[in-house]
Amino acid sequence: NKNKIAIAIDGPAAAGKSTVSKQVAKELSFIYIDTGAMYRALTFKALKNQISLEDEEELATVLADTTIEIVHGKGQQHVLIDGDDVTEDIRTVHVTNNVSYVAKHPKVRREMVKRQQDLAEKRGVVMDGRDIGTHVIPDAEVKIFLKASVEERAKRRYEEMLQKGFSADLEKMKKEIEQRDQIDSEREAAPLIKANDAIELDTTNLSIDEVTDAILKEANRVIRDEGENNESL
Ligand code: CDP
Ligand code: CDP
Repeated sequence: NKNKIAIAIDGPAAAGKSTVSKQVAKELSFIYIDTGAMYRALTFKALKNQISLEDEEELATVLADTTIEIVHGKGQQHVLIDGDDVTEDIRTVHVTNNVSYVAKHPKVRREMVKRQQDLAEKRGVVMDGRDIGTHVIPDAEVKIFLKASVEERAKRRYEEMLQKGFSADLEKMKKEIEQRDQIDSEREAAPLIKANDAIELDTTNLSIDEVTDAILKEANRVIRDEGENNESL
């Protein structure tokens, strides 16, 4: 289908990737794939089975033997590990604060990227993560790099906690985000970095709808251009 393109959305924690990706996918009737959820799923399993997060070989062996499914139902996305629903379990602070140590291993990334490329093959996809535009779908028709000040990003996560009825410490959350950004940006294997051909959007002072509209505008422009090119062939 000529309308089916791939949209790659990268950026640091709480830049708004998943919220905006879901909306863009919904508007275009594309599927949304949250690659962070896949790294979180492996981290959850490793913590549960007391596997050292430094042990690259062991983590790769466990991953080879693990099915991770992202299923879409009733507007909500569910994440399954070996058939078990872990949608909530992979969002805990414990998983969040450990996932970057798992995601830095090249052997883990190689397998994850392979699985993600299989999922993106059919196009009609919005995929978010850290290395989508640079490594997973380097030929994505639309690449977006979302960023926002760390203060704003910590505030967003803080407000999410309060909304869920939890107490939270804003300064502590800011430090945790900074630390995760640092590990993600400084690792050797596919670090968090803007692809040369990505459009950068600073969302610090933008609403969710403003960011969504900006991405949709670019996606629709590309879809229109591809359609015209196909017609002239
Ligand atoms: O939603 P949030 O930004 O908090 O995180 P996430 O997208 O769920 O990603 C969790 C972690 O997985 C990141 O901090 C990275 O360490 C890792 N990740 C990655 O290395 N590559 C990806 N494509 C996606 C996530
Ligand atoms: O996926 P990522 O970690 O990049 O961000 P997210 O999980 O989508 O979380 C961003 C949080 O900031 C959500 O609570 C959004 O409602 C909020 N937000 C946003 O995403 N974009 C804005 N422009 C403003 C607020």
